[in-house]
Amino acid sequence: MDGNGRWAGKRALKRFLGHQKGAESVQYVVETASRINLPWLTLYAFSLENNLRRPKSEVSFLMKLLKSYLVGNVKRMNDNNVRMAYIGRTHDLPQEVQDTMRWAMESTAKNTGTTLTLALNYGARSEIVDAVRSILTDLTTEAHTRGCSVDDLLGAGALEALDESSISRKLYTAQMPDPDLVIRTSGEQRISNFLLWQIAYSEIFVTDRLWPDFNGLHLLEAIAAYQRRERRFGGLGESFTDEDLDNLQPAEEVAAEIKDHLIPKSETRSEPKSEAKPETKSDPVLTRR
Ligand code: FPP
Repeated sequence: MDGNGRWAGKRALKRFLGHQKGAESVQYVVETASRINLPWLTLYAFSLENNLRRPKSEVSFLMKLLKSYLVGNVKRMNDNNVRMAYIGRTHDLPQEVQDTMRWAMESTAKNTGTTLTLALNYGARSEIVDAVRSILTDLTTEAHTRGCSVDDLLGAGALEALDESSISRKLYTAQMPDPDLVIRTSGEQRISNFLLWQIAYSEIFVTDRLWPDFNGLHLLEAIAAYQRRERRFGGLGESFTDEDLDNLQPAEEVAAEIKDHLIPKSETRSEPKSEAKPETKSDPVLTRR
């Protein structure tokens, strides 16, 4: 939700007013998400770095704004069947903010529409640190329970058992799917420590629009742009068919071209005779006509 400060600056207003306008955008976007039955919407509302690096007065304003936003909007969340959740080191937020957050979460827990997750005091690297700590704590507890050492457990298969899903299960987002689309407002072309693990294959949509000017229509525009994308997850994509494979330039031809044009003559000359015939297997992406 980037651009609150710039939105205010352009109008010669204080940054706080940009945040206040930004909070209004949150509700437009959430209610649009609910209208189109978007199952998950996660908003990066307050990062660990915001907490550490912004002036105390801004941080305390944001905390008050968050509290009053929750108090003022829980009824609308319920009217729109929106369930509230949070990710981040929320236990480090002021106690009265945590109390209001818990109240809002419990008051909307039975809703079955969009889950609105607010990332608060959130940082993706610290999320991974927390996951690793939790895995190590579990391992130590298990060793203690079984009366053996952590080394014994590692030797008995615990090391091999650790895989991507064991890490995913320990992230704050364990109960959520990975995001399909990341929307970044105010033209910033960086990730800023947001869901680093989870967005490995997410599509990214960058808009110059500042967050306070972003509303439900703009969410729909971003989703429409996403729907025109082709997702490949490291594969070749649906539009790449067996027919495409048949039309690939023969690997021998490509290898010969590479040898003639790309490898310095001195290297090809010193090649042993047995390797003169090029390897026929090659990456189809590289050899596609
Ligand atoms: C980034 O804009 C935004 C924030 C640090 C705070 C976002 C908070 C809200 C939108 C309101 C409170 C949240 C909820 C959920 C009610 P920026 O200040 O970095 O803007 P700039 O990049 O233009 O300076």
